[in-house]
Amino acid sequence: MATPPLPLRRATPLLLLAVLVGALASTTRADLVITRADRRVDLTSHIVRVLASLKVENVGPDPVSQVLLSFPNIQAKNLAAIRAFGTEGKVKGPSTVLPIEVVQPSGAPPELTFFSALLPKPLEKGKILHLDVLTVFTHSLQPFPEEITQAEAQLVVYQDSAHYLSPYPVKVQTLAIRLPGGRVESYTRHPSAKLVDSELKYGSSEELPPFSYLPVIVHFENNNPFAVAKEVIREIEISHWGNVQITEYYNIAHGGARLKGEFSRIDYQSRPYVRGVSSFRNLIARLPPRAHSIYYRDEIGNISTSHLWSDSKKTHLEIEPRFPLFGGWQTTFTVGYGLPLEDFVFYSDGKRFLNITFGSPIEEILIEKLIVKVVLPEGSKDIEVSAPFPTNQSQEVKYSHLDIVGRPVVVLEKPDVIPEHNLYFQVYYKFNNISLLREPLMLITGFFLLFVACIVYMRTDMSISKSSPSYLAKLQWDEVHNYLACRSYTLRVNGLAENCFISACNYFFFWSSFRHVI
Ligand SMILES: *[C@@H]1O[C@H](CO)[C@@H](O)[C@H](O)[C@H]1NC(C)=O
Ligand SMILES: *[C@@H]1O[C@H](CO)[C@@H](O)[C@H](O)[C@H]1NC(C)=O
Ligand SMILES: *[C@@H]1O[C@H](CO)[C@@H](O)[C@H](O)[C@H]1NC(C)=O
Repeated sequence: MATPPLPLRRATPLLLLAVLVGALASTTRADLVITRADRRVDLTSHIVRVLASLKVENVGPDPVSQVLLSFPNIQAKNLAAIRAFGTEGKVKGPSTVLPIEVVQPSGAPPELTFFSALLPKPLEKGKILHLDVLTVFTHSLQPFPEEITQAEAQLVVYQDSAHYLSPYPVKVQTLAIRLPGGRVESYTRHPSAKLVDSELKYGSSEELPPFSYLPVIVHFENNNPFAVAKEVIREIEISHWGNVQITEYYNIAHGGARLKGEFSRIDYQSRPYVRGVSSFRNLIARLPPRAHSIYYRDEIGNISTSHLWSDSKKTHLEIEPRFPLFGGWQTTFTVGYGLPLEDFVFYSDGKRFLNITFGSPIEEILIEKLIVKVVLPEGSKDIEVSAPFPTNQSQEVKYSHLDIVGRPVVVLEKPDVIPEHNLYFQVYYKFNNISLLREPLMLITGFFLLFVACIVYMRTDMSISKSSPSYLAKLQWDEVHNYLACRSYTLRVNGLAENCFISACNYFFFWSSFRHVI
């Protein structure tokens, strides 16, 4: 099996890199040694997850307070999330989350991106740290070929290094790549490579100098939904009358190999899993428990081919677009649901806060641009946002029925959102319960004014009784008017307005007497 030419071309910069970074090896980062590095790469979805379990030992004389992690820039640009968990000691105990920041060590080559995991307390001489680093990459499975026909399976290429790329020497290391099953077209055959079932292993390599890099390329079948949303707007509207209304606007595309040639729906419908193997028909959204009034629609109307399962712990909505999505195809739709206020809005220290997850409830979706809008009740003040990752924040105002100054809207924007970003964030605000009564009071005042107006009108009208001279005069005037056939347009319009007003009054009296009855 030959390595495909396209991935090889892509790999060349990486080969050069190995040479370039040699220079850095001599710098003073030799205090730490990685005694063991085991990496597991999960390629079963279109979002690539790499878990590196490192055993780090301080062999230098001084305590060390940070561990450097390095990635080639071409990998780092697709890095959507990085998390590190550490625990000190000979055996692995419960670990703590370590803060991570981007750093630029002096003398580092520009081809690499460095992160630093900060230790809660410095690692003393001779001590061992267990460090788990989870990294999640997007756009790292390249479809190859880039265009396929309706019946073809989708093949993708992944590349990485068989050696753990680290600024520290690595004593023993392994790499295991989990594939989705199905065909494996080719993989780089280093002597230690072994493919068993759908797991590709690069066996242990020993005594690697810092920045060892050994390219590997895997070319394999992956027909899982490459659901990529160009943009998602999530609107969360809080109503202190008991509801949190969520409305999500999606624009989703199949981000895999593009469909070439004609699409035949007859072919597809006769054997969807053969004649449409690379397409996806549905997506699953995991909504919070107690979600209610759920709908799923597009510009044509309700889409009835959705299914809903719910129990006390979860609500599953299966979203089935009107047509299967092939590579490059897009669809837009809206999902909406209501949530009980008491599950998401809390009160503490004189402030209320919304505590809800950030990302989309749809499974394994990559959102290239997510805009979360939190619409607070009118009259909310002192708004503060606390998010577990950096976001772009701004504020706007939304007007709806009976609003005077409008509702404050907190807008949070984040690129490349993956399921790992489905973390809780909080919006704190001050809101006076009196404001809650403003709208009903406005309605009551409105009705009261109408009522007064009606009374005034009725009073003046009552003086025109059927026997009064003014009524007779009016009749005569009308008669003359008809004879002369000179009813002006303005008079007719006036009459119309008068009729409307009378019916509004009648309606109002009917309504208020009805209310008295009940
Ligand atoms: C759409 O579906 C929802 C919920 O199933 C329903 O309440 C609503 O009336 C439907 N709207 C239309 C226009 O069919
Ligand atoms: C938000 O809710 C989650 C899940 O219920 C909880 O673990 C977390 O502590 C809450 N955050 C705050 C600030 O209350
Ligand atoms: C915020 O927006 C600015 C300008 O639009 C952009 O350069 C920056 O990367 C954004 N930051 C985040 C965290 O999205």
